[in-house]
Amino acid sequence: MENEVLKEKVQNIIQLPALPTIAVEVASLIDNPQTSVSKLTEVISADQVLTAKVLKIANSPFYGFQRKISTLDFAIMVLGFDSLKEILISISLISAFKKKQDKFFNSKDFWQHALAAGIAARTLARQLGYRISGESFVAGLLHDIGILVTHQYFHEEYKKIVGAMADGKSTFQDMEQVVLFATHGEIGGWLAERWNLPEQLIEAIKFHHKPELAEKNQQLTALIHFVDYLCHKLNVGDFNYEKVDGYNPVALEILNLSEAEITQAFYDSFGSKLREDLERTFVSII
Ligand SMILES: [Fe+2]
Ligand SMILES: [Fe+2]
Repeated sequence: MENEVLKEKVQNIIQLPALPTIAVEVASLIDNPQTSVSKLTEVISADQVLTAKVLKIANSPFYGFQRKISTLDFAIMVLGFDSLKEILISISLISAFKKKQDKFFNSKDFWQHALAAGIAARTLARQLGYRISGESFVAGLLHDIGILVTHQYFHEEYKKIVGAMADGKSTFQDMEQVVLFATHGEIGGWLAERWNLPEQLIEAIKFHHKPELAEKNQQLTALIHFVDYLCHKLNVGDFNYEKVDGYNPVALEILNLSEAEITQAFYDSFGSKLREDLERTFVSII
C-alpha cells in the first residue's frame, strides 16, 4: 500500500471512533474558572458509566476515606479538578475503542502503557516548568494509538508485523515499514488529524520516535519521546510489543535537560511516583 492510499484508508474507516464529545465538554467546563461543582456533577451524572467510574476511583484505598463516597459532588472534591479532567478524558477515550484483543495484542497492557506515558509526560512537564502540562497528558495517552488502529482495522497486516518480529532481529517499526509502508506514529497522526486535534498534538503523536522532525512544538514531541523511553526503562505499564530501549539525545537538548541530571536517583524517584500515581488513580479506569 502506498503511504497516501493508506492514509486515505485510515481516515475513511467508517467505524473509526469519533472523538468522544463528553470528554471535550467536560474538559472545557473544568478549564472555565466559573464552573461549579454542581454544574460538573450535572454533566457527569448524565453518563452512568462515567459516574460509576469516578465514584470507584474516589473510593480507591489510596485516597484513604473510611466512609464510602457515594455522591458525585463529594467525589469531585476529593479528586480535584485537575485529576478529574485527566480521568474523564482517559475514560472516554479508552471506552471509544473496542476492547478487541487476542494473543497478539493485550488491550489492558496497551492502555496501561498509554496512561503511564500520559502521567509521566504531565509530571515531567510540571517538574520542568512547561506550560504544556495539560496537553502533555493527552499526547502521552495517545502516542501509540496507531498500534491500536492497526490491530483493529488492519488485522492481517498487524499479525504479519508481530509474526515477523518473532526472530528477535526486527523491531516493531521496521516491520511496520515493511508490511504497511507507514509507522504507527503516522497512522496515529492521521487519526488525530481526523479528530481535528491541535497541530502540536498531531505532531507529538506522529514524531514520538523521531523528535528531531517536529516543527510546531518540538518541546511536546521531545517530551513524549523521552517519557516513552522512561516508561519502558522503569517498567511502568507493561506494553512489550514495541520495545523502546533508548532515546535520541536531541530530545534532551530540546527539553533543556542535561544527561548529568538523568541519574539513578532521578530514575528511582520518578519511577516510584509514577507507579503510585498510576495505581492510585488510573488503573481502575481500564
Ligand atoms: Fe511508539
Ligand atoms: Fe510507547
